[in-house]
Amino acid sequence: MTDSIRVTGGAPLRGEIRVRGAKNFVSKAMVAALLGSSASTLRNVPDIRDVGVVSSLLRLHGADVNYDVESGELTIDTTNLAKADAAQIAEHAGSSRIPILLCGPLLHRLGEAVIPDLGGCRIGDRPIDFHLDILKKFGAVVTEHPDGLHLSAPNGLHGIRHTLNYPSVGATEQLLLTAVMAQGITRLENAAVEPEIKDLIDVLQKMGAIISVDTDRSVTIEGVGRMHGYDHTSLADRIEVGSWASAALATSGDIMVLGAQQRHMGTFLNVFRKVGGEFDVVPQGIRFYHPGGRLKPIAIQTDVHPGFMTDWQQPLVVALTQATGLSIVHETVYENRFGFTDALRAMGAQVQLFHECLGDAQCRFSQRNFKHSAVISGPTPLKAAEITVPDLRGGFSHLIAALAAEGTSTVHGIGIIDRGYEDFRGKLAALGAEVE
Ligand code: EPZ
Repeated sequence: MTDSIRVTGGAPLRGEIRVRGAKNFVSKAMVAALLGSSASTLRNVPDIRDVGVVSSLLRLHGADVNYDVESGELTIDTTNLAKADAAQIAEHAGSSRIPILLCGPLLHRLGEAVIPDLGGCRIGDRPIDFHLDILKKFGAVVTEHPDGLHLSAPNGLHGIRHTLNYPSVGATEQLLLTAVMAQGITRLENAAVEPEIKDLIDVLQKMGAIISVDTDRSVTIEGVGRMHGYDHTSLADRIEVGSWASAALATSGDIMVLGAQQRHMGTFLNVFRKVGGEFDVVPQGIRFYHPGGRLKPIAIQTDVHPGFMTDWQQPLVVALTQATGLSIVHETVYENRFGFTDALRAMGAQVQLFHECLGDAQCRFSQRNFKHSAVISGPTPLKAAEITVPDLRGGFSHLIAALAAEGTSTVHGIGIIDRGYEDFRGKLAALGAEVE
């Protein structure tokens, strides 16, 4: 498949598409299956590259993984789990951030883990210090090798008390996946509570775990000696839903997103409405549309749940280039998530970046050398350009910009978008986009 796409923009996206399970949940639920000594079934699984990467890593460890694209049903049988070849694991270097989450489950099931160098989007440093601190506290011994990290647990894994400096999604998942079978009780303060994490907790409970979540971001886990497989249907991908909604707004379109779930979209829907978009929640999903007239500017900051997700930021910024007036977006999750605006400027958008925190509150990046606030002045007609996509969400945002722009744009490097947007080419065609 070619890695470039030609997009002739300027026409509204109209029609109906379906969004299936959440990339940022499905991949973690697949890792959780390693903890069970019997088979698991995960439903509503999208056909995206991250699912392929995790399937491949599980297979290297002896798991039998079967995926039916049509029905979205994925089964993982871990009965014959076995140690994997380190060289084959190393071949997965740079493919995804998920492998770091295999540590706890592999230590529990096999007594050792080998983790390749990580990948993921280039949107900041994305260190793994929180993960390693947690694993070491549980009793893991971590050594660095040329082919990646090697972990063992010579004295077993034991429950811990831990407070996260920042409610990191991955670190919370790391702790959950390790604590459920560690000896004794684990208590986590300042946990991330994203809907994908709540779904992971549901999965772990189905498998035999004992986990309680308090309203103050604290989680208590009582370790159990044995876990079994699960049967679970993934929540919808709320990032993908927000991306298509922003595409509807930016192109003055009307998109029915089948499978979208209101209960995970509340914060986004409020912002969508304030900007001037309209939506109808129906049993099958959510219809997002531009009602005509002017879009309104807005001041928002990204935050951990229940705040406005950082992953919604990039597609929304494209829509804000079409709002009348000055919008302010303060990015507080990643220090470097406005790189994609270079291409928007080349297309005629007026976006200025600032080191200062232009939000209600000072964030972790205050007084540091990161341009993490953006001021967008609109409306600006966008013109076609030749673009190379920088990362997953930035890449999708470039596609939206090309669809909103007059003329024919060429977008290179679109393979990145397959990591997280199922069949986006087919969906664009279904919405009447002129793409080649
Ligand atoms: C998850 O990344 C998602 N990825 C991201 O989605 C999402 O943007 C992010 O959560 C926030 O919602 C997956 O689920 C695979 P974090 P994660 O740990 O878990 C810092 C997408 O496009 N940090 O919550 O890696 C980190 O640098 C992606 O789908 C440390 O300092 O995010 C960041 O500033 C992109 N040390 C902040 O915490 C660590 O050890 C939040 O990161 C870990 C994180």
